[in-house]
Amino acid sequence: MGRSDRKKVIDEIARYAGQVIDSDAYRECVGFRHHCRTTIADHMVHVAVVSLSLCSLLSFTNPDRERMVRISMTHDLAMVHRHEYSRYTTAFRHPFDSAAIAEDILPLSRKEETAVKRHMWPLCVLPPTCREGWILTLADKICAFQERFGKNIPWAQYVEDSRKGASDR
Ligand SMILES: [Fe+2]
Ligand SMILES: [Fe+2]
Repeated sequence: MGRSDRKKVIDEIARYAGQVIDSDAYRECVGFRHHCRTTIADHMVHVAVVSLSLCSLLSFTNPDRERMVRISMTHDLAMVHRHEYSRYTTAFRHPFDSAAIAEDILPLSRKEETAVKRHMWPLCVLPPTCREGWILTLADKICAFQERFGKNIPWAQYVEDSRKGASDR
């Protein structure tokens, strides 16, 4: 992804997820390690970036880009509480708790809520019910792999810079 493409997609995320980015729950994610080398905030922005690329690729299916950003930027909000879960229940509990936290920040539609709750599919058995939900489950897995083995990119910082730039303008 080139610099100007990246800026465009980051600005889109900052615009659609403004309420999330300004929330205390998201602020906690900024300083919280995830997938060994990244943070939960970096991971969620990364998932939003990859999801939007997949939306462009699958544009003939007419995905809703705003919905895509809303669910990507909230799907792992509860991972900051993972120390409260046992090793075996984290994968099943954090999607439900993330949806509950997200509800306090921005009202999610029924489909968005379901997409967040089922992003660990196929582990959670019940599949997503909308195309953005399917894209989220795929992007989440691609990002988890890249974050473990690929280059570390300060995604959350990019979004924060974009948000600051927009309010300075
Ligand atoms: Fe997750
Ligand atoms: Fe995730």
